[in-house]
Amino acid sequence: MMRLALAGARAIVDMSYARHFLDFQGSAIPRAMQKLVVTRLSPNFREAVTLRRDCPVPLPGDGDLLVRNRFVGINASDINYSAGRYDTSVKIPFDVGFEGVGEVVALGLSASAKFTVGQAVAYMAPGSFAEYTVVPARMATPVTSVKPEYLTLLVSGTTAYISLKELGGLSEGKKVLVTAAAGGTGQFAVQLAKKAKCHVIGTCSSDEKSAFLKSLGCDRPINYNAEQVGAILQQEYPQGVDVVYESVGGAMFDVAVKALATKGRVIVIGFVSGYQTPTGLSPVNAGTLPATLLRKSASIQGFFLNHYLPKYGAAMDHLLKMYASGELVCEVDLGHLSAEGRFTGLESVFRAVDYMYMRKNTGKIVVELPHSGNSKL
Ligand SMILES: NC(=O)c1ccc[n+]([C@@H]2O[C@H](COP(=O)([O-])OP(=O)(O)OC[C@H]3O[C@@H](n4cnc5c(N)ncnc54)[C@H](OP(=O)(O)O)[C@@H]3O)[C@@H](O)[C@H]2O)c1
Repeated sequence: MMRLALAGARAIVDMSYARHFLDFQGSAIPRAMQKLVVTRLSPNFREAVTLRRDCPVPLPGDGDLLVRNRFVGINASDINYSAGRYDTSVKIPFDVGFEGVGEVVALGLSASAKFTVGQAVAYMAPGSFAEYTVVPARMATPVTSVKPEYLTLLVSGTTAYISLKELGGLSEGKKVLVTAAAGGTGQFAVQLAKKAKCHVIGTCSSDEKSAFLKSLGCDRPINYNAEQVGAILQQEYPQGVDVVYESVGGAMFDVAVKALATKGRVIVIGFVSGYQTPTGLSPVNAGTLPATLLRKSASIQGFFLNHYLPKYGAAMDHLLKMYASGELVCEVDLGHLSAEGRFTGLESVFRAVDYMYMRKNTGKIVVELPHSGNSKL
């Protein structure tokens, strides 16, 4: 017997009697919904993922929320996930999408200790590319309203915050290089390094993105399509850079390692340039790496957000406070400038992933899921 806090009446009900239940505005929560499902393992998102229109709306368990998604975030790793690289034993079909913002429409009894029906929440949990997602309450953060800016913090902001705090060793005057600096997570690495009074260099692919980086306080944006990153670093930073927040991999990783100062460090955040390949990797000059590191007493360390979940809650609290007090820009890219227009509806997740891999985005790519009228009884 499943007990839920019922949306409209805010009561506990036995779902075995309920044919459908009502949300907090009195609308029926339908029994069927749309969601994206990985039906074939591939880093080609369009090949891997299918939009299914008649999936049952899941019921929350005791410690869970049922969230009606309003905004979902696109991540570079959506294609690693659809390729089965997160869990090599995973069996298709499985749900996809890492994060969402929406409102609670039903919840389990334990979850009702902290959350209520109608509450706006932001969450990191698998399966967000769906109209409704069951989210463990411990992975959800109450927010003041359903806004896309909160999405920027869930994966991207916390990755920058926790990695730089735990591994960056930032202090005044340090030179910090951020690659993919104008993207979802790069924008936060730039701002957090500036808050720590560092000198920040950021790479990106266009003059428009350079201008955005300037607006965030980045001291030296480098548009790599107009200037050579390696040459600029050699000329303008002959003593090297102290910290690299590195997301691109391949040739960019090699440039970053070469540019390290004595005792410099590279934090490996990702290697997006390789994700579309069959291996998911882009080759680097690994043969010379031991010698390069030794000669500089330098280091390279990986960072994966899932390994730092005990730090997650405090990181979100901190970032939310910074945003609320106007100290943090949370740039959202809803696709206004994409050829086919704004990213609206689950079907536009495919376009949004393409848009990222065409290197078009400035800030965090977000897809809006407008609520359809046909969910009403
Ligand atoms: N370790 C973790 O826990 C963790 C968590 C979140 C994200 N990440 C990593 O952070 C990086 C950025 O992720 P994100 O989701 O925030 O994406 P994003 O930065 O919003 O978008 C990716 C950006 O990478 C740049 N890029 C450079 N070479 C590229 C290429 N060959 N193909 C596609 N993009 C390229 C593009 O910016 P330009 O056009 O300006 O070059 C593009 O806009 C990824 O490596 C991702 O895996 C890691």
